[in-house]
Amino acid sequence: MNMPRANLFVCAAALLGTAVASAAPDPGAVVELRMDGAHPGATIDRNIFGQFAEHLGNGIYGGIWVGPDSTIPNVRGIRSDVVAALRALHVPNIRWPGGCFADEYHWRDGIGPAAGRKATVNANWGAAIEPNSFGTDEYMDFINQIGSEAYVSVNVGSGTVAEAAAWMAYMTSDAATSAGKERAANGHPAPYRVKFLGLGNESWGCGGAMTPDYYVSQLKIYARYVRNYNPAQTGAQAMRRVAVGADGSKTEYVEAVMQAWHDKVWSWDLEGLSLHSYTSAGWPPAHPSTHFGASDYTLFLKDTLNMEALIAQHSQIMDHYDPQKKIPLVVDEWGAWLAPLPGSNPGFLVQQNSLRDAVLAALNLDIFARHADRVRMANIAQMVNVLQAMIMTDHERMVLTPTYYVFRMYAPFQDATFIPVQVDAGQSASGLPRVDAIAARDARGNLWLAVVNLDPERPVRIHAAVAGTAMRGAHGQVLTAGEVDSINTFDSPHRVQPTPIDGVAAAGAVLLELPAKSVSVLQLRP
Ligand code: AHR
Repeated sequence: MNMPRANLFVCAAALLGTAVASAAPDPGAVVELRMDGAHPGATIDRNIFGQFAEHLGNGIYGGIWVGPDSTIPNVRGIRSDVVAALRALHVPNIRWPGGCFADEYHWRDGIGPAAGRKATVNANWGAAIEPNSFGTDEYMDFINQIGSEAYVSVNVGSGTVAEAAAWMAYMTSDAATSAGKERAANGHPAPYRVKFLGLGNESWGCGGAMTPDYYVSQLKIYARYVRNYNPAQTGAQAMRRVAVGADGSKTEYVEAVMQAWHDKVWSWDLEGLSLHSYTSAGWPPAHPSTHFGASDYTLFLKDTLNMEALIAQHSQIMDHYDPQKKIPLVVDEWGAWLAPLPGSNPGFLVQQNSLRDAVLAALNLDIFARHADRVRMANIAQMVNVLQAMIMTDHERMVLTPTYYVFRMYAPFQDATFIPVQVDAGQSASGLPRVDAIAARDARGNLWLAVVNLDPERPVRIHAAVAGTAMRGAHGQVLTAGEVDSINTFDSPHRVQPTPIDGVAAAGAVLLELPAKSVSVLQLRP
């Protein structure tokens, strides 16, 4: 196996971290952090900052779609406050319509005049009535309004390959075809772009409980016949097909799909393999999203750090069949899954979002960045009102969650080049590593550093140096709050939000004072 030098550097740092942690560095000492700008790693694909919007609870209805006649300000039924907030995140792609919902979704129910749309039952999520008011054309309108790309999951569980192929024809064919004419009659003559196509969802579970071999036989057929006809989608713009992969650490699907891909014939191909892994500290999710203390903070951060080993485990299998890393690992469902908020419909997966969850998100983004050569796409679950959401809404009110701010702060890392970081701050009393960090250089040459201080009690002083380059300072934002379970609410929406932070020059490096339980992103000034 050929491991890039940059990764060797980080692995060495990780090993060093484990070894030195037992020596317990003085917690009051200044921690040395070293960036190796001379040995850049892979590009941190902006698609790791993707989102997931399923027909689930108020994720779509109320959260995104209010309808054109709503008193809530909207553009063609899509709420304007949510669109404005999401535009600031530069969301690269949005996975839709599910999730488990996708394998029972019939796209024809959601096109054409509003009055003619079918009302169906959302059997997966609380048996809610699905009005189908938000369908293909509304989804495309939504992603265009926020400047994102489509990631459409087709129905492999209860649909047919003909249905999925017809859906793609509707979305991507020229207006001279019958499918294109139908789309044009619904107001959209130009073909849509479908950048990513999910071939099923959790086919080992809600998507049909298929054996790996059975799924692989379906996969080949869907990968062959569900075509993208958009003439503009060639070369780098070509659609990427994502196969169902692992349920957490279970590797059967990874082995089966990768082996099939390795042995494939000319008629089908793949451009991604998915991984679903939630942070729930046990199953079913039972830990509260509010009013928790230090032990839940530690439990969840330790649990989420397992993402590192999980990706390494799957990457090892993928490297065996695909040493050139042609197939990206797509972590298209991740995030904290907590107990439903008391009083909410348990089928709607409503939970609060705390400072702890923001720290958890930053740690996962750091892990994805460290594996940028293999992890080239990810989708946090979910975008609005569901699980670890960016945004929560209540009728006309909207609140931005702590996780939202992490995604906004990390935006400079989109498509930036990974720079290896070496740091060892030891462990906090609870056994958590005290500090996690990544660095990257953006297309304009600016150097960015993200540092998470996991320690719930103690601030940390960091002496950040770039090998071979003197630094004159740093400026950025820090996200922290009074308590690990601090949240933003509709009545107090600004409790957890970023504030400015500066680093001062110190002997060619930059000295940073980072508060306990915080996430910081800074641009370094040479
Ligand atoms: O995100 C909620 C659900 O979790 C999705 O529908 C499913 O794919 C997963 O089990």
